[in-house]
Amino acid sequence: MISPLDVPDSAPVRSANEEVSARGASLGRRPEAVLRMSGVRVWTPEGMVLLEGIRWTVAEGQHWALLGPNGAGKSTLLRIAAGVRHPSAGAVDVLGRRLGRVDVRTLWPRIGFVDPAHRTPQELAVEDVVLTGATGTVQPLWERYGDAERRRAAWLLELMAAGRLAGRAFGTCSDGERARVLIARALMPAPRLLLLDEPSAGLDMAGREDLLAGLADLSASEPALASVVVSHHLEDLPVTTTHAMLLAGGRAVASGPGDDVLTDATVSGCFGVGVRILRTGGRWAAVHPGREPQAPREALGG
Ligand SMILES: Nc1ncnc2c1ncn2[C@@H]1O[C@H](COP(=O)(O)OP(=O)(O)OP(=O)(O)O)[C@@H](O)[C@H]1O
Ligand SMILES: [Mg+2]
Repeated sequence: MISPLDVPDSAPVRSANEEVSARGASLGRRPEAVLRMSGVRVWTPEGMVLLEGIRWTVAEGQHWALLGPNGAGKSTLLRIAAGVRHPSAGAVDVLGRRLGRVDVRTLWPRIGFVDPAHRTPQELAVEDVVLTGATGTVQPLWERYGDAERRRAAWLLELMAAGRLAGRAFGTCSDGERARVLIARALMPAPRLLLLDEPSAGLDMAGREDLLAGLADLSASEPALASVVVSHHLEDLPVTTTHAMLLAGGRAVASGPGDDVLTDATVSGCFGVGVRILRTGGRWAAVHPGREPQAPREALGG
């Protein structure tokens, strides 16, 4: 049984509570936690600590950004959320079930995880790649797909601005097109949690904007869906982003409502570079103030 999100009514006014209330109103009930972690640690067999002291709750309807520099532990954390990796210590509840006590294969159909390790058959038509998401298989299981599945696959391709790719072999698509097809595939079984690891990587500006618009449309059409998007760049966050966690060196340096977390000080501290955070039209951006190119004479110390 999935437990309701535990937010005390007496908590200070603003953000998290207001957000939960707003989401609750749009769902017509109190949002439930789809992911809960506490005291999560991960270490390698050699004893290298990859994650330390992670405490995190993701509720229905929330859209999280998971940000941090290279090697911060983002992909490791996402794989735990997807139930494809177990923590070395700590408690993780995915869709109300405790990792280590549940057969994770029963959870996977309700988690939309675009696994970078997934091997997609290159010769399959893109709509058939999407269909394989309904069965969670690499190859299509044709007898398991009916009209409803085919209609949903076509709709998801349209939603991801990839409808025009129907009929094309997956292997002939560009990186950006493949990224959108694989997100449509992950959405096929109507998951409750969508986990995307750097979905904008390799996309040009138009491709990224199509993807971000698709994610925004998705959250409007499926208000209970929760998502986590890993990125290095604030510019890659969808307008629907509600929360953010900043990871550095395997630790959460800040976590909570987006506007509280994505500040000049926290982002600069997390990435180790001075940036100013701008917010326009619901989107975020990081700029480096006063970073003028050095004159050649100064660079040479003359
Ligand atoms: N099996 C492993 N053995 C040793 N080190 C590992 C292992 N898996 C991950 N690491 C290390 O753990 C750290 C975190 O890796 P992870 O892939 O989670 O980082 P990330 O935040 O996703 O980085 P990036 O932004 O580059 O994708 C890295 O330093 C990585 O080299
Ligand atoms: Mg990564």
